[in-house]
Amino acid sequence: MVMATKNILVTGGAGYIGSHTVLQLLLGGFKAVVVDNLDNSSEIAIQRVKELAGEYGNNLRFHKVDLRDKPALEQLFASTPFDAVIHFAGLKAVGESVQKPLLYYNNNIIGTITLLEVMAAHGCKKLVFSSSATVYGWPKEVPCTEEFPLSATNPYGRTKLFIEEIFRDIYRSDSEWKIILLRYFNPVGAHSSGYIGEDPHGIPNNLMPFVQQVAVGRRPALTVFGNDYNTVDGTGVRDYIHVIDLADGHIAALCKLNDSIGCEVYNLGTGKGTSVLEMVAAFEKASGKKIPLVMAGRRPGDCEIVYASTEKAERELDWKAKYGIDEMCRDQWNWASKNPYGYEAQDSSK
Ligand code: NAD
Ligand code: UD1
Repeated sequence: MVMATKNILVTGGAGYIGSHTVLQLLLGGFKAVVVDNLDNSSEIAIQRVKELAGEYGNNLRFHKVDLRDKPALEQLFASTPFDAVIHFAGLKAVGESVQKPLLYYNNNIIGTITLLEVMAAHGCKKLVFSSSATVYGWPKEVPCTEEFPLSATNPYGRTKLFIEEIFRDIYRSDSEWKIILLRYFNPVGAHSSGYIGEDPHGIPNNLMPFVQQVAVGRRPALTVFGNDYNTVDGTGVRDYIHVIDLADGHIAALCKLNDSIGCEVYNLGTGKGTSVLEMVAAFEKASGKKIPLVMAGRRPGDCEIVYASTEKAERELDWKAKYGIDEMCRDQWNWASKNPYGYEAQDSSK
């Protein structure tokens, strides 16, 4: 099989989306080299991916490297010819980015520029990047298509916006580059084994990691940010997507890099909107746990309704999400109940 020879560098591959994508890559016959500084992840995730991949686990290598460490990246590219890079590495906590904008600009933007410089120097010009639906800001209408105007309301979102622009400039300057920007909607769930999943450090910012921690007794209640939106029940509506569907979207994007594509952007979502209360109800059903709720005001920077137009990805990547919110909640609960403290119980370094 041709794919068995492809060597993919995965930055941030120990993280939530990265670890699931690396597993799907290995199972798809790719070789994967992960670089991650473990700032928001654990090496245990890498070990578990290796185990889940069975005989394909031997095709995975891990290097604890910060993306801004140019000599280390140089060394890696000098020793391994990469066919393409999937670039997940970055900081992603919106609130923290408001408090520490320079940390976010330094880590996310300098990290990306360093990666691009080393890639160019070694003639590796194929890349898939983790962008976000956050670049649509508060969209005037839904579903969001890839042509919508872009905006950002916080430094995290601005790093995504700037990096997207950097990629467009790079392609304009050198048409040998093939770049796919994937705008993720709201990734949730875990691998069906319950062996890998999301394990954020500190207090979770996102809805489902928070719900999960309430369900296992780590937090007393979920604070619902706003119930006066113009939605089905007053709470915010988002497009939740199973992390395995998202991971498979990356394989579809990698395959697309073989075509003459230039620099293209694709939404990865399901095209369906779900409210906070609907998501909580689905999780209660899947887990059999009651999630106590505290109603609060709107969170600054939040928007009312966001969901994806999935047409472009379906048409051009031949990819479509398979799972619904019941499966997302089932798999998230399976992971949470088997690992109530994430990877921590096993990781003595934390
Ligand atoms: P994550 O924090 O679990 O994974 C990111 C990984 O990058 C972590 O393992 C972290 O240690 C690593 N990292 C950060 N800075 C690094 C650096 N300078 N050098 C090396 N490694 C570094 O986050 P995730 O949810 O898996 O997100 C992956 C990517 O997808 C991020 O770029 C994020 O902004 C983007 N994204 C995530 C979501 C989401 O809801 N999870 C939504 C849209 C976009
Ligand atoms: C948030 C970020 C966005 C980022 C995305 C994925 C903000 C303002 N936006 O988007 O930039 O790209 O995560 O990382 O932080 N909710 C609660 N209680 C909670 C947490 C969330 O009610 O404790 C609600 C939110 O108000 C929202 C929904 O749940 O209506 C989803 O929230 P979240 O998971 O944080 O995702 P986004 O708001 O889409």
